[in-house]
Amino acid sequence: MKKEGFKKYKQYKNVELKERKWPSKLIEKAPIWCSVDLRDGNQALRNPMSLEKKIDFFNLLVKMGYKEIEVGFPAASQIEYDFTRYLIENNLIPDDVTIQILTQARRELIEKSFEALKGIKKAVVHLYNSTSVVQRKVVFNKSKKEIIDLAVDGTRIIKELVREYPETEFILEYSPESFSGTELDYALDICEAVVDEWKPTTENKIILNLPTTVEMYTPNVYADQIEWFSDNIKNRDKIILSAHPHNDRGTAVATAELAMLAGIDRIEGTIFGNGERTGNVDLVTLGLNLYTQGIDPEIDFSSIDEVIGIYEECTEMPVPDRQPYAGSLVYTAYSGSHQDAIKKGLGLYNEEEYWEVPYLPIDPKDVGRTYEAIIRINAQSGKGGIAFIMQNYYGFSIPKFMQKDFSLVIQSIADESVKEVNSEVIYDAFKKSYLNIDSPITLESIEINSKEVSKKDIEILASINYKGNLMNIAGVGNGPIDAFVKGMNNIIEGFKVSSYNQHSLGDDSNAESVAYIQIIDKDGRKHYGVGTDNNIILASIKAVVSAVNKSIA
Ligand code: KIV
Ligand code: ZN
Repeated sequence: MKKEGFKKYKQYKNVELKERKWPSKLIEKAPIWCSVDLRDGNQALRNPMSLEKKIDFFNLLVKMGYKEIEVGFPAASQIEYDFTRYLIENNLIPDDVTIQILTQARRELIEKSFEALKGIKKAVVHLYNSTSVVQRKVVFNKSKKEIIDLAVDGTRIIKELVREYPETEFILEYSPESFSGTELDYALDICEAVVDEWKPTTENKIILNLPTTVEMYTPNVYADQIEWFSDNIKNRDKIILSAHPHNDRGTAVATAELAMLAGIDRIEGTIFGNGERTGNVDLVTLGLNLYTQGIDPEIDFSSIDEVIGIYEECTEMPVPDRQPYAGSLVYTAYSGSHQDAIKKGLGLYNEEEYWEVPYLPIDPKDVGRTYEAIIRINAQSGKGGIAFIMQNYYGFSIPKFMQKDFSLVIQSIADESVKEVNSEVIYDAFKKSYLNIDSPITLESIEINSKEVSKKDIEILASINYKGNLMNIAGVGNGPIDAFVKGMNNIIEGFKVSSYNQHSLGDDSNAESVAYIQIIDKDGRKHYGVGTDNNIILASIKAVVSAVNKSIA
């Protein structure tokens, strides 16, 4: 980077407000949402959407609950004209949804836009012209007065045309495009001139949309501007104040949120923040940010994967793995300590209470994700996460005494592959390492003598195959495991069972049982085995055989 290159940029100052109110406010309700995916978003695609894709996307937006949808710039694009006509002629716009079209302030464009809307019950006509210092100077070479005249003339043409389409209820939206680079008092003047021409009422309000067409300053500066604008504009009760944040500085979501504090009634944005350059504000993040503050976003995000699927299909762009609330990795913990905390949090969470699970700001189920995806394993992971996978995917509640040993097995696989270890690999390793291991010792048959040898002892007679030699063993103990170990001690000396656990592998009475055993060999080393069987005694004995086999392997 060029030394002192930053000196060619200037800092934007916040507005001098006597008493700044927005910092002490809280967001209390959802704004009016307007999706501009099909216009601002579509306009920024490598391959703009076909008619079919636009229909799919429109239906998705309707299904999610968006009530205002900008469908295009019909006077500038034939496909957007056709799409608008298609929606109207095929009655695809539900009664509670209003479509919006964009137009510049030129008679022929406005006339074509009205033609596109013919026959519709209600529509927003979105008129814009660029007002910033740099656009006036570099692009238009027009005075402030000439730019105001352009906006007012456009409004007058719209007013005239409205009379020719009495079947339609029209709402006017005006955007001083490049508001973010416009002198604030001048933006107010031009908006007031449009309002004076349009003459909105409290029943038929005008939408004034203040875009950060290019995001150039911190969100607090925009919030100051909105508060000042909202306090100073005449006829505030006849105005819906709208924000249209872009994301050049990566702070569009914060800009929109502070703008809500500062008095914005409505927000224009796109799903997953698609749009020109770094995009528009992401409506999914904004909506779910409200949701996780206990505020109804009035949008349905319960099938986020369906939204992602249609979005990716239509835009030909992927949703990044770390996209807030939606990315494939955002409900995943690899780190051992995070996994442990999530596991504990999920274990204690009670649906009657507020959501309180460490590292998870939202319950993944609320967006249609499952808990299963939460904990994934790589070389950073700990025993808790591995135990979580075994429990949640395969029903094995690995007891604490063997979790460490299993995590070392997985750790070495992860270290070797330098990749994520998926659940199948974990399960496979579990089977190979512990489950019903029957070599070099194989249990051929077993007889558990129900006759008690003394008041509390049990006798076990078993036939085993050890390296090809068939042997009979017998043992008496205070339970089947004790008896079997005693019998086995005749072949493998000195090992004893040091920990034991068992549970059923399902809910019904026919479910298999699983037993976990830790043995200590004659040299004091620990070994682990797991056995499964319909009979819990046999499962335990198989677990002992597995552990012994591990000790002599
Ligand atoms: O970003 C912008 O300024 C726009 C206007 C047309 C509202 O998209
Ligand atoms: Zn825009």
